[in-house]
Amino acid sequence: MELLTGKVALVTGSARGIGKTIAEVLADLGCAIVVSDIDKEGAEATAASLKTDAIAVQADVSNADDVAALVDKATERFEKIDILVNNAGITRDNLLMRMKEEDWDLVLKINLKGAFLCTKQVLRGMMRQRSGKIINIASVVGVMGNAGQANYAASKAGLIGFTKSVAREAASRNIQVNAVAPGYIETEMTSHLPNEVKENFLADIPSGRAGSGEDVAKVVAFLASSYADYITGQTIHVDGGMLIA
Ligand SMILES: NC(=O)c1ccc[n+]([C@@H]2O[C@H](COP(=O)([O-])OP(=O)(O)OC[C@H]3O[C@@H](n4cnc5c(N)ncnc54)[C@H](O)[C@@H]3O)[C@@H](O)[C@H]2O)c1
Repeated sequence: MELLTGKVALVTGSARGIGKTIAEVLADLGCAIVVSDIDKEGAEATAASLKTDAIAVQADVSNADDVAALVDKATERFEKIDILVNNAGITRDNLLMRMKEEDWDLVLKINLKGAFLCTKQVLRGMMRQRSGKIINIASVVGVMGNAGQANYAASKAGLIGFTKSVAREAASRNIQVNAVAPGYIETEMTSHLPNEVKENFLADIPSGRAGSGEDVAKVVAFLASSYADYITGQTIHVDGGMLIA
């Protein structure tokens, strides 16, 4: 029997990138998957490619009606949600002096409010079943800060505070809430960075390489499994040593 056989996971932003790899790794461990993304075709393609029971549901995580419909569809199909991975996220980088208010608002709305809406919607069922795992994809930048990413860093630092608070609220119901803080991972999100920025990132990574989606997904799988039943409120850094506190 696989580690996650019989479990159901909802992964937001899983049409591509880290979210897609998380869906693949959880599926390989026997989990049924709800693939959700604002990108409908991408979500459908991911769901079709998984070697497990999977459905695709289009939803904007920052829209409360979309999130309510997403959780309804997921529970109609699978009856429960055991694992929620709040992965959907965006960047709108600029130096603070040039940062537009709308770019501040949008990043906070998707990265932080999105996790609030999805967690709130899923938590009721987890409370009732007295078990659940919630994993929030933060960022090393939420702990270190990064020039040009004040909005993104604030959203990810907020997500870490959110993780700690919900962990305290839900622990007595056997629900564990943790965050994973990736460093520099090669995906669509980072592919547009100027070469100089990429080289600077690499120079700061003791492991000497960028991370992969799989590096992140394997830690998510661990946190989603019974191996992590006594871990809650933590942020696990997956960054090749970029931040060693
Ligand atoms: N790539 C990195 O180096 C890195 C580092 C640290 C943290 N992260 C975090 O990991 C997560 C995934 O990043 P990625 O690199 O795979 O990014 P990505 O841009 O490749 O994928 C993000 C996915 O989220 C979806 N999405 C965007 N807005 C959405 C919304 N409103 N509702 C639902 N889905 C939405 C996109 O359509 C896309 O499929 C993000 O939260 C990101 O902040 C990434």
